[in-house]
Amino acid sequence: MKTKSTVQAIRWNGESLFLLDQRLLPNAVVEIELGDAISVAAAIRDMVVRGAPAIGVAAAYGGALSVAQHLGSANWRAAVEAELQVLEQARPTAVNLAWAVAQVREQIDLNADDPLHAVRNLAEQIHADDVAANRRMGELGAALIEQRCQVLTHCNAGALATAGYGTALGVIRSAYAAGKIERVFADETRPWLQGSRLTAWELLQDDIPVTLIADGAATWAMRQGEIRWVIVGADRVAANGDVANKIGTYSVAVSARHHGVRFMVAAPTSTIDVNCPNGDAIPIEQRDAEELFGLAGVRHAAPGAHAWNPVFDVTPAALVDALVTEKGVIMNPDSAQIAALLASA
Ligand code: MRU
Repeated sequence: MKTKSTVQAIRWNGESLFLLDQRLLPNAVVEIELGDAISVAAAIRDMVVRGAPAIGVAAAYGGALSVAQHLGSANWRAAVEAELQVLEQARPTAVNLAWAVAQVREQIDLNADDPLHAVRNLAEQIHADDVAANRRMGELGAALIEQRCQVLTHCNAGALATAGYGTALGVIRSAYAAGKIERVFADETRPWLQGSRLTAWELLQDDIPVTLIADGAATWAMRQGEIRWVIVGADRVAANGDVANKIGTYSVAVSARHHGVRFMVAAPTSTIDVNCPNGDAIPIEQRDAEELFGLAGVRHAAPGAHAWNPVFDVTPAALVDALVTEKGVIMNPDSAQIAALLASA
């Protein structure tokens, strides 16, 4: 079955990168055109583009723009390397960013004769592979849902956060098309409101019924028996199956276990970091306290209050019922199963 996904966050015309400005959604649908790597890094840092796979794809195109700009100048390789480092450091938690930049470096090193062609091809391939991986995860994740139910998601792990179709929302799209999902509860996702601004908008584009809840209402919704599955994406999965995702995911996972609700993580293998033995080794991004002090430019916090703004947390593997990747599903993930899955690839 060909399921719908109408939203496109990233577009490439061979020379420029076009990003849907996610800071403005859903009030305005505006695409911005970027022609150099430093602008791409700024767009990643400032959340024009966000979501682990999407920032990996954007960074790969940033690498292509960098090579295109500097190739031919005397020190082009050093100039490109400096920009790759800026791209790599734009955000710390989602491993897809460093993963994509590492591949750009490798292609440059392997293709001294035509590095531009090689890096452009690489970026286009990462872009296409991500959509294919999401479609596959959609099928695999939907198959885990036995009966028609309501599900909950946190943050936005949809087409907006990927090259298309989405990870968690890919599973939701496929399961909805198969008649297995009645309604999606979307956590608002403070402070950036990825749930209320992005997930709700994206699902409505495809006519999937969505009910917004405040983050604090998720546990109560589970208590009412409203939710059978929680389905989320990931920014980095450690070698032992611990999962870094948007702040608030951990609380949802704890509540899900307490209420007998199943907890599914959908993430491509590009999000698994075998160099991180467990969640303690995952760097957690802290963003500006200003993001907590107000909303839509209006400051509401008591003047003088301090704020702590970690934007990701780590859910221990023991709370994950299913890890869905494009290469297969792992139930109750642990180091041995993850290593076996990656080795089988
Ligand atoms: O800060 P964001 O919006 O980039 O955080 C995004 C998330 O936490 C997503 O759930 C994650 O990247 C998975 S996206 C398929």
